[in-house]
Amino acid sequence: MILRPNQRENILPLPVVLISTISKDGIRNAAPWSNFTPILRPLDEVLLASWLKRDTLENIRHTKEFVVNIPKVGMEDAVMICARDYPPEVDEFQEAGLRPRQSTMVGAPGIEGCLAWAECTLLEEIIREKFVLIIGKVVHLEGDDMFFNGQGEMDFKDAKPLGAMLGSEGMSFTYPVFSGRYAKYKEMFHR
Ligand SMILES: Cc1cc2nc3c(=O)[nH]c(=O)nc-3n(C[C@H](O)[C@H](O)[C@H](O)COP(=O)(O)O)c2cc1C
Repeated sequence: MILRPNQRENILPLPVVLISTISKDGIRNAAPWSNFTPILRPLDEVLLASWLKRDTLENIRHTKEFVVNIPKVGMEDAVMICARDYPPEVDEFQEAGLRPRQSTMVGAPGIEGCLAWAECTLLEEIIREKFVLIIGKVVHLEGDDMFFNGQGEMDFKDAKPLGAMLGSEGMSFTYPVFSGRYAKYKEMFHR
């Protein structure tokens, strides 16, 4: 099957995170994001891609801060409410019934009921004609004790972090399943 080049988001599972920010007027905002990735293990920077017209982008530019929240299965409806194009004066926590969670290092609140919270500060913006790449530094990272062991590893079988497979008319929400093979990092180094 030959796909169009701009269907490249259909060929791999994507993460679904909720980015929470506050506006210059103090309004809480939350928006789902799939163009999100940590930049290389074991550094502490993250990358997200944003269309130019996003309240999230405005808020990050203004406050230089954001929180990356990891939603779990069961939060799909809240995710889709946050995806609606509300004007900046609408409190999206209220619209989606999300409870704020006090952050430790940044002013933006996290979202209660999520699995983990990465509090970030803005390091750099890479501006293109149609989009912006945001590089952030994680300044505080926390996971729900119920789903993380002492080494900071997520019990993804129980936690069910939300992902998505994209299609032409919409997306199917997903979560990870263990393939049966565990690999140590040291397998990558043969000497
Ligand atoms: C699962 C999912 C993933 C999304 N990923 C992105 C993304 O990576 N970048 C982006 O600019 N918009 C993305 N969107 C769209 C925004 O979430 C949506 O436009 C939202 O209303 C933006 O809110 P804001 O204007 O309050 O920032 C995604 C939407 C969904 C449902």
